[in-house]
Amino acid sequence: MHVQDRKVATKAEKDTTPARYAVMGNPVAHSKSPAIHKLFAHQFSHNIEYIALWVDTDGFVDAVQQFRAEGGKGFNITVPFKLEAFELADNLSDRAKLAGAVNTIRFEPDGKIFGDNTDGTGLVHDLTKNLNVQLRGKKILVLGAGGAVHGVLGPLLKQNPAMLVIANRTLSKAKDLAQTFASYGKVEAVGYDDLVGKRFDVVINGTSASLKGEMPPLPVNLFANNAVAYDMMYGDKPTPFLEWAMLHDAATAADGLGMLVEQAAESYLLWRGVRPETKHVIAALRKGG
Ligand code: ATR
Repeated sequence: MHVQDRKVATKAEKDTTPARYAVMGNPVAHSKSPAIHKLFAHQFSHNIEYIALWVDTDGFVDAVQQFRAEGGKGFNITVPFKLEAFELADNLSDRAKLAGAVNTIRFEPDGKIFGDNTDGTGLVHDLTKNLNVQLRGKKILVLGAGGAVHGVLGPLLKQNPAMLVIANRTLSKAKDLAQTFASYGKVEAVGYDDLVGKRFDVVINGTSASLKGEMPPLPVNLFANNAVAYDMMYGDKPTPFLEWAMLHDAATAADGLGMLVEQAAESYLLWRGVRPETKHVIAALRKGG
């Protein structure tokens, strides 16, 4: 074999090795992310592999090191590791700093770990691009004050709503969040009782109530004309919050599947430099594809 031939063989070999990505979580078995990224890669004929990696609750850092040693280029992080990922990153995007959590990591060529958070951008994209809901000047109510809500407040406030109200059972947590984000817009913290008599254009359920088949204790007449109810969770059927919203005059009720696909598209952009088309991917997932 000539030297020249050997070079060609090495290049061909390289081209057939997929770039490796993953989602790390616990639980993670039912994650839709591998299917989503497969559909994204298909759009560009990219040769990638994206797997769901179950990680022991105290084994996150080891799992990251192992994945990098095996040639991983980057990965997504889901429950319960977003805070650990935030701690682990050497450098953080502004939106990750604002979210206080990391859902996307990219391994840099110099060995550094770059942490980003695409959740809030994903939610805003789904609302504004897919559902055609403009947030500027609107009254937004966000339910819950846990990590999921913390992750999306920055991008929501960047849309310049007229006001953003955070309602939570534990009022002190809502107050802490409102204080953290006070310099980004008009943010107010309330308990559920304080919602009586108030109306909102957009109501976003960021509590974990849907996971338990529950919903927050909401008063009737919560929705303004043409209002949108959005649940950051998704499932095979509408969540209790979305069912309630449809019965109580919300004009639109949407689950978080679109947010999931949009945050994935932002991650793909960070890793591969191109943003995939999302509408067909959302439609394919709805059909179970
Ligand atoms: P996550 O990371 O998903 O946000 P979390 O940090 O545990 O999870 O936060 C869960 C959120 O859902 C909290 O705001 C919680 O309210 P409390 O802070 O008062 O506990 C909220 N939540 C969970 N179940 C709920 C329910 N049945 N009704 C209302 N709020 C609920």
